Amino acid sequence: MGFIFNNLFRRKSVSAITDAEGHESGLHRVLTVRDLTFFGIAAIIGAGSFSSIGSACFSGGPAVIFLFIICAIACGFTAMCYADFATRVPASGSAYTYAYVSFGELAAWIIGWALLMEYSIGNIYVAFSWSGYFVNLIESFGLHIPVWLTNNYSDAHQAFLDGTSGKLSQAWSTAPVIAGLKIIVDTPAVMINILVTWLVYVGTKESRNASNVMVIIKLAIILLVIIVGASYVDINNWTPFMPNQFSGVMAGVSGVFFAYIGFDAVSTLAEESKNPQRDLPRGMIYSLIICTVVFIILALVLTGMVSYTALNVSDPLAEVFALKGIKWMLFIVSIAAVVAMTSVILVFQMGQPRIWMAMSRDGLLPKKFAEIHPKYKTPAFSTLITGLVVGIPIFFTTPKFVLDFTSIGTLFAFVLVCGGVLILPRNMDAKEKGKFKMPYINSKYIIPFITIISLIVIFYNHVSMVVNDYTSYNFPMIIFYIVWILLAVFSFIKSYSLIPVLGLLSCCYLLTGMGWTNWMMFGIWLVIGLVVYLLYGYKKSKLNDVVL
Ligand code: ALA
Repeated sequence: MGFIFNNLFRRKSVSAITDAEGHESGLHRVLTVRDLTFFGIAAIIGAGSFSSIGSACFSGGPAVIFLFIICAIACGFTAMCYADFATRVPASGSAYTYAYVSFGELAAWIIGWALLMEYSIGNIYVAFSWSGYFVNLIESFGLHIPVWLTNNYSDAHQAFLDGTSGKLSQAWSTAPVIAGLKIIVDTPAVMINILVTWLVYVGTKESRNASNVMVIIKLAIILLVIIVGASYVDINNWTPFMPNQFSGVMAGVSGVFFAYIGFDAVSTLAEESKNPQRDLPRGMIYSLIICTVVFIILALVLTGMVSYTALNVSDPLAEVFALKGIKWMLFIVSIAAVVAMTSVILVFQMGQPRIWMAMSRDGLLPKKFAEIHPKYKTPAFSTLITGLVVGIPIFFTTPKFVLDFTSIGTLFAFVLVCGGVLILPRNMDAKEKGKFKMPYINSKYIIPFITIISLIVIFYNHVSMVVNDYTSYNFPMIIFYIVWILLAVFSFIKSYSLIPVLGLLSCCYLLTGMGWTNWMMFGIWLVIGLVVYLLYGYKKSKLNDVVL
C-alpha cells in the first residue's frame, strides 16, 4: 500500500529532463523571442477581448477594470513562475512537465488533464465566438447562412424551452429534422477547427508565419477601435462606477480570466525555440504586459462609450459601434475579431499536442501521441486527436459551459505551477547572462504581516466595503482564508520566495469567484482523470523502469 502511495508521488528529476532535452526531439527549432511574444499575444487577445468582456462589463460595470487588474497581477506572478520553470526545465509540456519535477507523477497527470480544459475546451469557446463574428462579417457582404447552421443545439433548445425570441429560437423552429432529430450545428465553428487543425498539422513554420501576420492585424485594429472609441467616451457612463458592488465585479471572473489565458501557451514551445532559457520567459512576460495595457484601456473605452447595461451581448465591440451608428467600424471590428480568434485557436491547437507528446514520452499516454510526422516534423497524431476533441463537443456544448470549465481548469493549473516553484529547491545558481532568474524576495515577514493586517481590516473594520459584500456567506472565500493563513505560516517557517506565494494567493482568490456548478463539474472531470491514470498511466509510466 505504502509502495503504491509512494509511486503516485514519484518525481522526474530535472537533470533527466534536461539531459533528454540535449537529444534533439525532431521538432524544428525556429522560434525567436519576437516570435514567442507574438505567439503570446496571438494566444491572449481573442474571444475574451471580443466576446466575454461584454458580460463581465455588464455584471461589474466600469469597475470591471479592477478585475482586469487583479487577473493581471495573478497572471503576472504566475508568468514569473512559468518563466522560472521554463528556465530550469526547458522541455515541451509546460505546467505538466513542471509538476512532474516538483509534485510528482499524480499531480503531473492531473495538470495534464486540467490543461486539456485550457487548450482544447478553451478552443471550443473561441470557435463559438469566432463563428458569431464570422457570420456578422459575411452578412455585411450580403451573404446569409440559415440560423440552424450557425448556432449550437443546446442553446437553441433552451431558447425554445424558455420561449425567448431571437436567432436561437428561430434556429430551433426552422431546423430540418432527420430521424426525429433537429439538425442545428454551428458549422462555421466546425470549419475553423478543421482549417486550423490542418494548418498545425503541416508545420510549425507555416503556423508561425500565419500567426505573426494575424497578430499585427489584430493589434492594429484594436488600436483603431480604442482611438475611434475614445472619441465617443462620455464620462457620465462611468457613474455609477461599481453598480453591482464587488460581487458584481467578481461575477465576471471566468470571462476576464479567460481573456488572459494564453501567455502560458508560449511555454509549450520550448523545443521549437532557438534559445528557450532566454526567450521563453521574455516572450511570456512581454506579451502579458502588452495585453494587460490593451485590456484595461479597452474596458474603459467600452464602458465609457455606452452604458454598461448595453454590453451583455456576445459581440460587445461590434455592439458599441452599432449603438453609436458608426457602421464602417462594424466591418473592421468583425475582421479583427475573426483574425484575432483564428490566431488563438491556432496557438492552442499547437499547445495541446505538445503537452500530450510530453505525457506520451513519459509513458502516461500511448506512444502514438509522441509520433512526429516524418515530413512535416509536427506531432501529427496528437494534432489530429486535438482536432477531434475540439470539434466533436461543438455539436453538443454551449459557450457558457465551456467558458467556465476552461477558466477553472486553467486557474487550477496555475495554482499548481506557483506551488511547484515553492516546492522545488531554491535556484542558488548565480544569474547567467541572458537567462531568466526569478528574483528571490524573502516572504518570511512580508506575507504574515500582510495577512494579519488584511484579516484585521476585513473582519473587524468595515472600512473595506469593497470586499465585504463579496466575502459574506461565501464558502470558497472561507477556504481561501484558510489557505491564506496556512501560506502565511509556511512562509514564516520556510522563508518562501515572495513571488510564487503572491501568485498562489492571487490565483486562489480568483478561484473563489467560480460557482458551485463549476466546482462540481471540475471535480467530476478530475475523478475521471484519476481513473484513467490508475488504469493506464500508473502502470505504463516510464518511471516504473527507474529504481527510485
Ligand atoms: N485569451 C484567449 C481568448 O481570449 C483564450 O480567446
